[in-house]
Amino acid sequence: MEFSELIYKRRSVRAFTDKPVTREEIDRMLEAATRAPSACNMQSWHFYVVTDAAVRARFAEFCAPWAATAPVIFVICTDGDAIMKRFGERARLFVHQDTALAAENLLLCAADMGLNGCFMGAFDADKCRSLLEIPESREIVALIPVGEAQTESPLRERKPMSEVVTYIGEDDEPSNSEKDSRYLLRDTVIKHARFENINMTGVEFDNIKMADGSFNNVNMTGVRFSDINMTGASFGGMCMNKTKFGCVDIREASFENPDLAGTSFKDCNFSNVTFEGCTVDGMTIDGVNIAEAIEFYKKNK
Ligand SMILES: Cc1cc2nc3c(=O)[nH]c(=O)nc-3n(C[C@H](O)[C@H](O)[C@H](O)COP(=O)(O)O)c2cc1C
Repeated sequence: MEFSELIYKRRSVRAFTDKPVTREEIDRMLEAATRAPSACNMQSWHFYVVTDAAVRARFAEFCAPWAATAPVIFVICTDGDAIMKRFGERARLFVHQDTALAAENLLLCAADMGLNGCFMGAFDADKCRSLLEIPESREIVALIPVGEAQTESPLRERKPMSEVVTYIGEDDEPSNSEKDSRYLLRDTVIKHARFENINMTGVEFDNIKMADGSFNNVNMTGVRFSDINMTGASFGGMCMNKTKFGCVDIREASFENPDLAGTSFKDCNFSNVTFEGCTVDGMTIDGVNIAEAIEFYKKNK
């Protein structure tokens, strides 16, 4: 599976089928986990792999009961005596970083094999320690139940890039790697398009026909549309931060309460389009800053 696909396949799953996870699959996940980077390559981690049905059932005593239904539960621990001896207190952070990186590798490997799991930080560590007889020298960082998902979990929304990223010396254009990791939907007719409660961040649409489509509560941050027929489309409660529209026919469309901050429209057809309750800071239409144009109009009318 391509990495760009895999990264979206990993989702937290909290309900599993009865299908067992094979020893080979478990070994592949552990192999992936231990390929993670670690401070000074000291690999300050230890993994307990719980497959025994009676022991797994007892996990319900100290964490969310659904976790106990997974065919395998990984208990991710630090094993930091050596690194603590070398670096003292500073290494406390290192051992947690090591285990977190290993955990993500494990989850990605699970997703690559069509499995999924959940990183769990909420559990009673003392009860887990006594059940598995884990020595005090190892800190229990997370439980990761893994199995086959009963149903496909939704792709959970992320904050917009503009909220979590600060570029130092970078312009607004996406970097090449960002462009490469985009999903491209091209040359497609989408009839009766209904998009609701979804995150489209990172998607690029090119030469698409979706007249009369409706978009509700959709995150379109950074999405690019070019050569699109969106006549008669309705947009409700949308986040369109830095969305780019080029050659988009949006005649008769209606926009209600969208956040259009930083959105740009170039060579679009706006006949009879209605905008209601929009946030337009930094929005441009053919290079004209709309917020400034509105201010200018108000002052001079
Ligand atoms: C440090 C940490 C602790 C978490 N603890 C729990 C937990 O105790 N129970 C749970 O159901 N999910 C837990 N999660 C999973 C998150 O809820 C989940 O990753 C987040 O909602 C995003 O969903 P996604 O993983 O499907 O993208 C935890 C995740 C992290 C990173």
